[in-house]
Amino acid sequence: MKTFYIETHGCQMNVHDSEKVAGLLARRGLQRADSAESADIFLINTCSIREKAEQKVYSRLGEFRPIKRLRPGFVIGVMGCVSQQEGSDVIRRAPFVDIVVGTHRYHEIPQILEQVVADRVPVVRTEPMDDPQPVEIDAALRESAFRANVTIMEGCNKFCTFCVVPYTRGPERYRPSRNVLEEVRRLAETGFVEILLLGQNINSYKDPSARGLNFASLLRAVAEVPGIRRVRFTTNHPTDFTRDIMDALEETPTLCNWVHLPVQSGSDRVLRRMKRLYCLDRYLDIINSLKALTRQMALSTDVIVGFPGETDQDFAETLALIDQVQYDSIFSFKYSPRPNTPALKLDSREGVSEAVKDSRLAALQSMQQRIQMDRHSRLVGSEQEILVEGKARDGRKSFGRTMSNKIVNFESENLSAGQFIKVRITGYGANSLRGVPI
Ligand code: SAH
Ligand code: SF4
Ligand code: F3S
Repeated sequence: MKTFYIETHGCQMNVHDSEKVAGLLARRGLQRADSAESADIFLINTCSIREKAEQKVYSRLGEFRPIKRLRPGFVIGVMGCVSQQEGSDVIRRAPFVDIVVGTHRYHEIPQILEQVVADRVPVVRTEPMDDPQPVEIDAALRESAFRANVTIMEGCNKFCTFCVVPYTRGPERYRPSRNVLEEVRRLAETGFVEILLLGQNINSYKDPSARGLNFASLLRAVAEVPGIRRVRFTTNHPTDFTRDIMDALEETPTLCNWVHLPVQSGSDRVLRRMKRLYCLDRYLDIINSLKALTRQMALSTDVIVGFPGETDQDFAETLALIDQVQYDSIFSFKYSPRPNTPALKLDSREGVSEAVKDSRLAALQSMQQRIQMDRHSRLVGSEQEILVEGKARDGRKSFGRTMSNKIVNFESENLSAGQFIKVRITGYGANSLRGVPI
């Protein structure tokens, strides 16, 4: 066994989980391969949030069937949320898979690989861990040298009626604040300047150690680590978005002025049926408090269209909300029926047709495009500090991000990823800005 390749689907936590597993394998002396096809071990880190994401996993796996036939020693492993959800059914659908490992068991991957190579019998390891704290894996081989993903909590206790995450990630588990802060300090010492804190419900963080920090205090502590210039966090649930988080944002300049606050729907009736635990008024209170801060906050959200039973009136209320808030960006999805979720039954009785979902999604997205053009136009002439991320595809332009998470393209020589530069905004599109270095 010499080389491995990990392909990641899904959210930022999956990206980071892959970084951790890559680190564990590198520690065992394995090397990264340039492609899945040329590797000795292929791991696919899967997402199950919508049906399409899950289908993609099986069609991708199918492409490896002929490779496995030619090279029986090739090891194929499936990790992530599809593994956790499907368990040994993965092997029933794709019998050439060697390993199925659930979201709580990544620390066992090196040992599982050894076992599979020795015994040549498939291994399924998806039992959830009872431990209230996630297993620490301090091996991450990070993709970036200046921005580091750091998980502070995993799992979800909310059980929104449409969502698989409470089943695929299990109940909420929190890392002790000491471990988080030690990791951030080490990252700062090795040159990282930006930290992206991760959790499926990050703002319900509770420190399991005696220090007992809440999320707002942990944010402040991470933001104060010397050398760290930007701290972001994702993703939030509105119910736990307390005043002290807003105070931390207001008072801590290294906390980025960007908040992602998924709303899902603008209709109270739909929010109730989704079991989102807030009503629109409560959500708007938080948005208005964020808008009232002296630091200008960029706001983004997630929206689902076509939840079972969503009427034209419900959807009109979602559009009205989007128009009222004027988000900097939104992620919008067509409702996708998921196994084990309560909304699945609703969908079989009062599912919204694919055609209606399509037209609602298009209407929502075109409204949001107009909003983004308008918001971007107001930034022309302003000065922004950019953290350079790399070269654009044409090789001449560079791009980076503002503190408020907007992408800016600009021309400049001799700049490398991880540097800061001031630019003046000179132009824009719906999804990015253009600028010139000052
Ligand atoms: N914890 C976050 C969401 C994590 S999942 C929150 O509570 O907001 C990311 C996004 O995927 C969700 O915000 C939702 O918009 C979308 N999503 C989740 N399940 C979905 C489903 N069954 N169909 C369509 N979109 C879904
Ligand atoms: Fe899913 Fe709801 Fe939990 Fe978010 S809060 S991960 S949408 S169950
Ligand atoms: Fe997908 Fe699991 Fe993340 S379902 S979005 S990979 S938590």
